[in-house]
Amino acid sequence: MAGYKSKMVEPISLPARERRERNLERARYNVFNLPADEVFIDLLTDSGTGAMSDAQWAALLRGDEAYAGSRSFDRLESAVRDVMGVEHVVPTHQGRGAENVLYGTLLSDAEDAVVPNNTHFDTTRAHVANQGAEPVDCPVDGAHDPDLEAPFKGNFSLERARALVDEVGADRIPLVIQTITNNSAAGQPVSVANTRRVRDFADEIDATFVIDACRFAENAYFVQQREDEFAAETEIAEIAREQLGYADAVVMSGKKDGLVNTGGFVATDDEELFERCKQRAILYEGFPTYGGMAGRDLEAMAVGLREAVERSYVADRVEQVRTLGSLLRDAGVPIYEPVGGHAVYLDAAAALPHLEADAFPGQALVCELYREGGVRGVELGSFAFPDAERPELVRLAVPRRTYHREHFDHVAETAATVLEKGRDVDGLEIATEPEMPELRHFTAGLEPR
Ligand code: F0G
Repeated sequence: MAGYKSKMVEPISLPARERRERNLERARYNVFNLPADEVFIDLLTDSGTGAMSDAQWAALLRGDEAYAGSRSFDRLESAVRDVMGVEHVVPTHQGRGAENVLYGTLLSDAEDAVVPNNTHFDTTRAHVANQGAEPVDCPVDGAHDPDLEAPFKGNFSLERARALVDEVGADRIPLVIQTITNNSAAGQPVSVANTRRVRDFADEIDATFVIDACRFAENAYFVQQREDEFAAETEIAEIAREQLGYADAVVMSGKKDGLVNTGGFVATDDEELFERCKQRAILYEGFPTYGGMAGRDLEAMAVGLREAVERSYVADRVEQVRTLGSLLRDAGVPIYEPVGGHAVYLDAAAALPHLEADAFPGQALVCELYREGGVRGVELGSFAFPDAERPELVRLAVPRRTYHREHFDHVAETAATVLEKGRDVDGLEIATEPEMPELRHFTAGLEPR
């Protein structure tokens, strides 16, 4: 049960069906083009879309906007030390800013570098590639199987990583990344045992080990629930500190488990890496005691990080996502199992079996969810990843502390109604697309086939 109550609300409404139809057409069947006011239940992302607590709003007023030496920075640094157990912090405007600072620093001198990750999130892949390195995904077997029940499908595959070493040589792998939870593998958690093995692997090949900690608190909650060595009463922060402690550096989007609308950081215990990151941060983000953030936002994130590891918060958070999954399952909607930490992923290939990959079943499902119930999700299948062998998933990401059970009932009913339409759901084809195929799902226009 939620350990909070609302004291400020934002009205939402379901636009009339004709209006939704017209909106879809105007948006060229791409829900990124919809005005948010026209969306009833917005499950596009869990990033920066959650509600802050009264303590966070109060902290905003304490913001010290000094260019250098801000008190607010000290409070963020203390929070990162206490909650994550990491010493030095370089604030950035959001997660990808932190990726630019850290990967730009770590990969600047590397030639022909190859970077394994359990699965690269889009911006991670882009930043690694932007440094001239090759991103390689090392998910465990079954990570992309929507029906396999296993506790840690987000894990990093050591077998794949070792095969990569055999193929390209250890010298070409200066950096190993682990993303917790694994957003691009249906938000599945990563075990602490797996993180230890990745640490050992990085030592074997003399590589730097980075954890992408966007959803570290949700991951720690799963560890506490599923990994035998952690007892029921173990503090969430204690698990987080142990897991993050194996990394040489942490890259963070505060928009997820920082419980803020914007912000991020790089954190490390390594003095030399810290100094180098600061230099790059000055160039791209700002002076290292504010980075890419206003003092008030540093304050809100300092409070948010502490709240994210409170058991009452994180248990409710993960269980709420699980509830949405159960409602969908009970309504007969095929979903990726088990349900991950921040989102429920629908199996569009199973939901609309009459549509082949080239008719974009995921995107067709996304459009129908909007048409039927004003629900906005995001396609993560053959439309978003044209060249990858990935299942046809639609992500329904749950903003933190924002929606209630009744909203989820509506989402499940909407999805069930779409499924009843069966073969009447048309496939889509691309009408206009941008130059970079990696980014096409954000801006491409489609039309019914
Ligand atoms: N790493 C992971 C695992 C992410 O999920 C994200 C963002 C980032 C890095 C980049 O952080 O957005 O603050 O720049 N994921 C959002 C999403 C956008 O919808 O999954 P950012």
